[in-house]
Amino acid sequence: MKFNVITFGCQMNVHDSDWLIRAMESRGWKAVSESEANIFIVNTCSVRDKPEQKVYSVLGRLGRLCTSPGDFVAVGGCVAQQIGEGFLKKFPFVRLVFGSDGVAQAPQFLEELAADHKKKLVLNDFLAKYPEREGGLANPNEELLPPGIGTIPGQAFVNIMQGCDNFCAYCIVPYTRGRQKSRLSSAIIEECTALVKSGVREITLLGQNVNSFGIDKKGTDLSFAELLYKVSAIDGLERIRFTTSHPKDLAPEVIKAFGELPNLCPQLHLPVQSGSDNMLKKMGRKYDRERYLGIVEGLKETCPNIVLTTDIIVGFPGETDEDFEQTMDIMERVRYESSFSFKYSDRPGVAAVKMTPKVPEDVAQKRLARLQERQKHITRESLEELVGDEMIILLERPSKRQAEGGIAWRGKDPGGRVVNIFFEGGDESLQLGGKLVKVKITESKNHSLIGEKVGNPW
Ligand code: 5AD
Ligand code: SF4
Repeated sequence: MKFNVITFGCQMNVHDSDWLIRAMESRGWKAVSESEANIFIVNTCSVRDKPEQKVYSVLGRLGRLCTSPGDFVAVGGCVAQQIGEGFLKKFPFVRLVFGSDGVAQAPQFLEELAADHKKKLVLNDFLAKYPEREGGLANPNEELLPPGIGTIPGQAFVNIMQGCDNFCAYCIVPYTRGRQKSRLSSAIIEECTALVKSGVREITLLGQNVNSFGIDKKGTDLSFAELLYKVSAIDGLERIRFTTSHPKDLAPEVIKAFGELPNLCPQLHLPVQSGSDNMLKKMGRKYDRERYLGIVEGLKETCPNIVLTTDIIVGFPGETDEDFEQTMDIMERVRYESSFSFKYSDRPGVAAVKMTPKVPEDVAQKRLARLQERQKHITRESLEELVGDEMIILLERPSKRQAEGGIAWRGKDPGGRVVNIFFEGGDESLQLGGKLVKVKITESKNHSLIGEKVGNPW
């Protein structure tokens, strides 16, 4: 069968889609472009904006491509979890709807639906335990899948948990992804070890709130810090990252790990959401600015070159000019190297829907623009400071911008910054994906760096 996957949203969704592609290919299906496909899988996101409308417009387009009786669409992810059967009723060509916990079973049911054109299914039940996925990593003959695991050579994402129990007042995730469920640490270590054996050099541990890993198991499994130490010890693993972290659950042992584990990358995404204690309280974040700044101080002491990034919401109900100034202030104090910032938007069923007063759109827009402008400057200044430094880069793919007389490749430094490197005399045949190279930074741009190689890639 020829299939095509369209993905919206976070890294968790991207990872789910990657896994689905590998799982279907191991069953003999072929991932193709949209125009060549018969079966379409749309992995949806509902965290912000008008996600439903976005999905409906994609479904309109795909509906026109479903021309033969065997053609159909499967809708997965957070919008699927919310709308459920509604998709089957509204769109006759949608024959499978699967939520967060349905991903593990989706391959089996996609096969069944491809064989029986009349069948339709909804896999939206939340399960009590983390649903282990089979067939995505190793094929039935126990052979490891070829390199290219994930979409970037040498890099892989490994799920360690699903769901979230925090119920921040603005957030729909606990409703669409369900309660927190940690994966068994033995399964995680096994997957990481197999990935490293197959040539992966960098692993990112993934979950909605990785810092509370294991808490749902009531002490019968490892803590997140213990898991980090175990993964770090896997022979041959050069880099570990993890995302996303909730500041309230970041244990001192995890902060310590940044000073102790040589392969733990000096990078942390630590969503602050707001710098105002009033807002943090209304958001239900369970930390205040003092505690957050204390964590940042601890991190910078343990690991002076740590790269911090964040998520910020402006215009949360009741946010005053003073509250917003507190957010601007925390940005100056932490000096995030980059940030994702959003205007608050009501999501169905979340607590903040009922909170007032709502901040007028134009006020929120102005605040967002000011914050983003300031961030742009901080990013540029932080990158400028790196000119002249030497660092090790993990190469990913040829850069978008090329020049005569060679080929440019992009990669990332341990802090997660994008670095472009020119390989004189090289051409498209140069296979550098997944290789490491020592580089001297020669120039900084708005969002990236340019480096010169020092020695050969390995
Ligand atoms: N409105 C705006 N931003 C939101 N986020 C989550 N829910 C909302 C919402 N209702 C942002 C948060 C979160 C990121 C993934 O999306 O900043 O960290
Ligand atoms: Fe949403 Fe808060 Fe859970 Fe993050 S921690 S997924 S913001 S509820």
